[in-house]
Amino acid sequence: ADVAEYLQRTPRQLPSRYFYDALGSALFDAICRLPWYRVTRAETALLSRYARQILERLPRPLNISELGCGNGEKLAILLERGGERFRRVHLIDISPAALLSARARLATLPANPVTTFHGTYEEGLARLATHRSQGSWLVLFLGSNIGNFDPPAARDMLRRIRGSLVEGDALLLGTDLVKSPRVLQLAYDDPLQVTAAFNRNLLRRINDEAGGTFDLDGFAHRARWNPQHSRVEMHLVSTRQQLVRIAAADLEVEFQKDEWIWTESSYKYEPAHVLSEGCQAGFLDGEQWIDEDARFALTLFKV
Ligand code: TRP
Repeated sequence: ADVAEYLQRTPRQLPSRYFYDALGSALFDAICRLPWYRVTRAETALLSRYARQILERLPRPLNISELGCGNGEKLAILLERGGERFRRVHLIDISPAALLSARARLATLPANPVTTFHGTYEEGLARLATHRSQGSWLVLFLGSNIGNFDPPAARDMLRRIRGSLVEGDALLLGTDLVKSPRVLQLAYDDPLQVTAAFNRNLLRRINDEAGGTFDLDGFAHRARWNPQHSRVEMHLVSTRQQLVRIAAADLEVEFQKDEWIWTESSYKYEPAHVLSEGCQAGFLDGEQWIDEDARFALTLFKV
């Protein structure tokens, strides 16, 4: 429904939450294994190494909720190392396929009651705030997902998370850091073209679910580092002039050659910037664990 509105903006856009249908989630899992995309491995390593330290900073018992849990792999690391301290586990994701695999992953661990919520971060957080139970909550917002919001929206999101928490609760935030343009370029435009497939899958999904007529060969994946805005921009570039119809939206769009659709931005942070954003959102001073080699940061913000 909002596809039509986004496609008619200048520049044209598509909302990035539509990346994650079953195929999109599988392609994203593949991206996370690419040698050139280090975000997931760096974050997983930090979590494995520092989980106990991080958890020691927090009260017991502890409930845990993850925004955009994906396959549940990172949450499992914390649960494995946190042992008895955990009570409820609450998963929020836009992808039913992701929720299923996260549930299956967590089912291999000693029992914690797991509830899932299929929807947006905002809806999931609102639910969390109204369904509190005994103990404090740790909210996980990992994978540099905050980086997919532009700065005002990122601020909004941090405030929204803060607003759903009370004293004793905390946020664990994963952010990818600024690094060399060459390294960033490869991370978002890999030689195996898995990222290209992930990006173009958005068009395939619109064709399948909204009666679109996108010619998948008529759009090329492009990733571009924008140093002014400290972000990698993901585009789908029309390789020729072409007309696309989307039946469900009753829409026709004429693309010029080289005209592009902006599908995603991935903002890169500096550690100090993450800390100041957390403070501005109303959290107490943050504590950071940083992988200097991959340039990735985990920040714990307490309330
Ligand atoms: N949150 C991830 C990131 O910004 C998502 C991501 C990785 C992504 N590769 C992508 C999104 C390619 C769109 C296209 O790093």
